[in-house]
Amino acid sequence: MYGTHKSVLLAECLDWLVGRDQDGLILADLTFGAGGHSCAMAKLSKCEKLYAFDQDPDALAHGREKLKTNNLTDKVELLDSNFVHFAQKIASDVLFDGVLLDLGVSSHQFDTGERGFSFRFEGPLDMRMNPRDDHVQTASDIINSWEASDLELIFREYGEEKYARRIAQKIAEVRAESPIKTTKDLEDIIFHCYPKAERFAGKKPAAKVFQALRIAVNRELEVLEKVVDQIVPRLKMGGRLAIISFHSLEDRIVKQAFKKYEAHEEFPVVILTKKPVLPTESEILDNSRARSAKLRVIERIAMRRSKNKYPSRTVKE
Ligand SMILES: C[S@@+](CC[C@H](N)C(=O)[O-])C[C@H]1O[C@@H](n2cnc3c(N)ncnc32)[C@H](O)[C@@H]1O
Repeated sequence: MYGTHKSVLLAECLDWLVGRDQDGLILADLTFGAGGHSCAMAKLSKCEKLYAFDQDPDALAHGREKLKTNNLTDKVELLDSNFVHFAQKIASDVLFDGVLLDLGVSSHQFDTGERGFSFRFEGPLDMRMNPRDDHVQTASDIINSWEASDLELIFREYGEEKYARRIAQKIAEVRAESPIKTTKDLEDIIFHCYPKAERFAGKKPAAKVFQALRIAVNRELEVLEKVVDQIVPRLKMGGRLAIISFHSLEDRIVKQAFKKYEAHEEFPVVILTKKPVLPTESEILDNSRARSAKLRVIERIAMRRSKNKYPSRTVKE
């Protein structure tokens, strides 16, 4: 049973990606999830074709049914793939009017205990978005086999966890006795690494380490960096790329990648959102997962004439 997922910044995404007066739009949604954004875009008569990606078997199975129920199977091609293979999966002559990425994990992944994403439930330390992929290290592989110094590094870099060293050392101590198997076992270790005064203040102590592990397992930052370089050259003139990020590490990558293309010789873009678009108070009240969302959008523009290519001539008298 696939859980419900409330699409974040849905109206804003529709507005920025498909709000213009155009027909025959070719679109892509690289993070299909529960299909909220995809179906809303594909249902528009101006959408001719939408290519969707997901790597989660639950999302794909649920998605295929949802597309059938909504009579969208002819319009939407749902691809079973990590979006990092975008350029390989989409024929090279297909150019896009709009591409969306709504990063991170879905509510279904978070709320399904056996996937191991959340310490709210007892579950195995898995955290793979594609649990069929045996080439991907699980959170358990990382926790039970990486050097303490490497664990410290990911807790610090991907989780911005201030007790990274203490937690990594404790993990190494505990696993020397017996492997750390479940989400609750790991949560308990982290909880006791926090000073007593901070254990119940603010976010749950385990939140940052769990975020770090999820990012490491799914190489979330690496695939994000790689995919932007595959998408921008495949935007039509006037085509747009919209990315929703959920934490500062992702947002930094999006911001830097967009800046790079603003000054790009071959594939220049304009940044349409000088400041990120944020959810309204009422969206956050309705869906707490939206609270950290940031939407940034770029648009492909015609190639600039570089000064070197067209040097000004000095006319001899
Ligand atoms: C936040 S949810 C998307 C929700 C969707 N926009 C909706 O409205 O229902 C993210 C989805 O993207 C998928 N995903 C994340 N990273 C991915 C990647 N690198 N390749 C393919 N799918 C990915 C996850 O499996 C998850 O189902």
